[in-house]
Amino acid sequence: MKIVTVVGARPQFIKAAAVSRAIQAFNQRHRSKIKIHEILVHTGQHYDYLMDRVFFEELELPKPDYHLGVGSGSHAKQTAMMLERIETVLKKEKPEVVIVYGDTNSTLSGALAAAKLNIPVAHVEAGLRSYNRTMPEEINRLLTDHLSTFLFCPTAQAVKNLSKEGIKNGKTKVVKKVGDVMYDSVLYYSELAEKKSTILEDLNLLTPRSSPLTNYYLATLHRAENTDNPKRLKSILKALNEIGKDALVILPLHPRTKKMMKVYHFLPETKGIKLIDPVSYLDMLKLEKYARAILTDSGGVQKEAYWFGVPCFTLRDETEWIETVKSGWNVLVGTDGQRIVAEVKKLRKTIERTKIDYGDGKASGKIIKTIVKYCS
Ligand code: UD1
Ligand code: UDP
Repeated sequence: MKIVTVVGARPQFIKAAAVSRAIQAFNQRHRSKIKIHEILVHTGQHYDYLMDRVFFEELELPKPDYHLGVGSGSHAKQTAMMLERIETVLKKEKPEVVIVYGDTNSTLSGALAAAKLNIPVAHVEAGLRSYNRTMPEEINRLLTDHLSTFLFCPTAQAVKNLSKEGIKNGKTKVVKKVGDVMYDSVLYYSELAEKKSTILEDLNLLTPRSSPLTNYYLATLHRAENTDNPKRLKSILKALNEIGKDALVILPLHPRTKKMMKVYHFLPETKGIKLIDPVSYLDMLKLEKYARAILTDSGGVQKEAYWFGVPCFTLRDETEWIETVKSGWNVLVGTDGQRIVAEVKKLRKTIERTKIDYGDGKASGKIIKTIVKYCS
């Protein structure tokens, strides 16, 4: 059976790596019976070496069968170019299923191109909602879920969210809580990160006795609502610099943020913040694991903070990963500088934290098993 996988942005490479591995494992187990042929389509949404190829090399993802070279552009332009080029691939390859991940423009384009050709869409990370429709990601998630036949949910909350919109398991839709494929990846790669990554040494983050670490904060920032709003961006950078007086803030800079900092002529006082290029996945996992706390507006990083047991402060007003907040691991601190600094200073050591069910680290295998059951 033939599956087309559509990826394009950094977090999708990490998610697709887990599922590709599950496909290979399936083929090994069912050598003589069903064989899955995965065709990997890269839209080209992310293209810098550190946003793209480094993940293919490190995660041993297969080389894309098609690279669509779409690159950056306005939402409409980028999505339209992807749509057109993905359609051409799908018409040629005629897969039984198209797998899309998350909530980027590459996700929506893959889903729409497939649905229009009556090819079933499998959405990995279905059912997430921030209930903020000014976020481009929320539009992408909503539309992709409504176009999909297979809705693979990471959490029970995601299944509930879909149900509220009338998307339920039944004759026309397969809605399944499989767990989080990013958890599969964290479990698989964190040991490797421990062995291979030298990022702590490279950044001089080891204490004289090499332990305990946690003498730095880790931050990531790329959400359009933060980077494209000078007031918000300035306020966040100021807060990070303030926090950095206590312990250095490591900030691997997303290219969008770098670009907008140039546009607004923001050069943060770098005393408290160490600006670095985006890091590879293994380096990121290591940086996360030993951070005193994480400040982020990323979706994936919020959960990784939870998996490593590191307190997280989310630089947004709402999150689609609401269970991380309910459980006490994550605080929504918004973008007001004073509030961010005050919340981080509290570093809620005493708060009770409950466990979250993100599955058993085998979400990818369940996804493949389900697709094969219905499509072969
Ligand atoms: C995209 C996703 C977002 C996801 C993020 C993961 C959409 C609408 N947004 O946001 O949901 O969380 O990826 O990182 O799909 N750029 C480069 N080099 C690159 C890629 C981007 O310089 O390799 C710059 C370009 O100036 C570009 C800007 O970053 O215009 C934004 O890139 P884009 O892919 O449109 O959105 P992201 O902010 O990366
Ligand atoms: N990540 C990485 N290097 C970085 C920043 C993030 O490898 O410099 C990883 C991070 O560990 C997580 C994923 O990228 O697995 C999250 O992607 P991003 O924050 O770009 O997107 P989002 O999850 O918000 O869609």
